Amino acid sequence: MKNFLILYYSRTGNTEKMAKAVEEGVKMVDGVEVDLMYHVALEDLVEYDAIVVGVPTYHHDMTVGIKKLFEDVAVKNINLKDKVGGAFGSYGWSGEAPKLILEIMKNRFEMSIIEAPLHIRYVPDSAGLDKCREFGKRIAEITSEKE
Ligand SMILES: Cc1cc2nc3c(=O)[nH]c(=O)nc-3n(C[C@H](O)[C@H](O)[C@H](O)COP(=O)(O)O)c2cc1C
Repeated sequence: MKNFLILYYSRTGNTEKMAKAVEEGVKMVDGVEVDLMYHVALEDLVEYDAIVVGVPTYHHDMTVGIKKLFEDVAVKNINLKDKVGGAFGSYGWSGEAPKLILEIMKNRFEMSIIEAPLHIRYVPDSAGLDKCREFGKRIAEITSEKE
């Protein structure tokens, strides 16, 4: 059984809607157990085979809580190497946050990034939610096949 974390933040609910649809996609894949969480204890991160982060873009940046979590992972040398990573988020006009997250996952933590970031402008419509489900399903399939 593989463990899959969807960690998200959402101020006005748009990224939360995405996160729930990503979770639905992950649940379509056998052999993968998913936790959808707003907060995670630092020491629990090592238990996951895949860590997918959902954050909206505010002020051209990721949100403070996620930034702090990544800083703590780096300071405490928590090993995330080769875990599957992914990022998504709602945005209004520039949407930098998911890309920034993937860069840190890849370059700082040496995680395995297999999907481009998924961005949806403001509230996800039904086609957007389908994209979220497909995104979750694809990452879960790859996670389930990993050694
Ligand atoms: C104060 C403020 C700053 C924002 N800054 C950005 C920004 O720099 N780039 C962008 O693409 N969207 C920006 N947005 C739009 C949000 O990303 C957008 O409303 C998104 O849907 C919020 O997602 P959430 O409901 O998950 O919090 C901003 C919104 C607010 C209210």
